Amino acid sequence: MTQLPTTTREIHLASRPEGWPTPENFRLTEVDIPVLADGQILVVNHHMSVDPYMRGRMNDSKSYTSSFQIDQPLEGAAVGEVIASTSDDVPVGTTVLHGLGWREHAVVKASDAKKVDPSLASESAYLGALGMTGLTAYAGLTYAGQFTEGDAVFVSGAAGAVGSIVGQIAKASGASRVIGSAGSAEKVARLKELGFDEAFNYHDGDVAGQLQNAAPEGIDVYFDNVGGDHLEAALNSLNVHGRVAMCGDISQYNATEPAPGPRNLALAIGKRLRLHGLLVGDYADVQPEFVEKVGGWLQAGEISYRETIVDGLEQAPQAFIDLLGGANTGKMIVRL
Ligand SMILES: NC(=O)c1ccc[n+]([C@@H]2O[C@H](COP(=O)([O-])OP(=O)(O)OC[C@H]3O[C@@H](n4cnc5c(N)ncnc54)[C@H](OP(=O)(O)O)[C@@H]3O)[C@@H](O)[C@H]2O)c1
Repeated sequence: MTQLPTTTREIHLASRPEGWPTPENFRLTEVDIPVLADGQILVVNHHMSVDPYMRGRMNDSKSYTSSFQIDQPLEGAAVGEVIASTSDDVPVGTTVLHGLGWREHAVVKASDAKKVDPSLASESAYLGALGMTGLTAYAGLTYAGQFTEGDAVFVSGAAGAVGSIVGQIAKASGASRVIGSAGSAEKVARLKELGFDEAFNYHDGDVAGQLQNAAPEGIDVYFDNVGGDHLEAALNSLNVHGRVAMCGDISQYNATEPAPGPRNLALAIGKRLRLHGLLVGDYADVQPEFVEKVGGWLQAGEISYRETIVDGLEQAPQAFIDLLGGANTGKMIVRL
């Protein structure tokens, strides 16, 4: 029988970021692994997710999720293998998805862990295209954005984890035109490879003008990952009865002052627009439909995903900072 580890390493929040996070906001710490209580499992984490929403949890402010606490471990999605268990339901050897990332080993309540099948897809896919980000893309476009065949769709943050899946789902579902924006020429080229009809680099400036050129007939759905100038540009280009799936506001996550605008919000009146904020947690009931549809497209090769993989727990803080800066194409994953 192999010896179980008695200690592990985890990343704690050392201080709250002001504006952009820095490595000093994080601390790598060695801790004892507690003895398992009844109904718990010990998981060796193989992959963990870093996600933009974690930036909000680093603030001490009221939000839809709780704040991370100073000197306590960060949390987030992770996938790994059960190496000890006091639960008959989740035996040793099971691969599970759970919420205690940012550490090499996690003691998890068995009922909080979800079994995943590593023979169907790579473990890391359950953190991305087949996991929370994929569901966000599918449910956001379908239900918040009320996409229907023939719609012209604009998605910002289009080369990222959520955005790249949104654009491909729209294409696979019969969008008349799919436009994406991203932060580099390489990412724009990637969007074309993925089948986007038009793509532009928002660093080239004049987001509203670039969107208008890319969609001269206007857009029907805007999937917003970015907020700020992108939302303003989309409001200009949206057609009557257009819809906005408000998914993220990443251009503002490190802002120290509230964002002005969008200055043209009143356009929503005349165009009878529908702006729908979405939280993926509200769409648990869509999970089976998501697995069937998106799983099917993935299997058929109609949609594909990319990952940016960083190795080692000690690199997780920098991976998170780099995610906010756009270093990733597709899902940012830390392999432990
Ligand atoms: N509502 C929900 O339930 C939910 C769930 C999941 C994700 N989200 C949101 O969805 C968005 C995408 O998340 P994700 O996990 O897929 O992350 P991601 O897109 O893979 O990574 C974040 C990307 O944001 C872009 N970015 C950073 N600063 C920007 C700026 N000022 N303007 C425009 N783009 C900027 C960067 O790409 P560039 O190189 O293109 O700048 C970066 O790669 C985030 O806003 C996130 O908070 C919401």
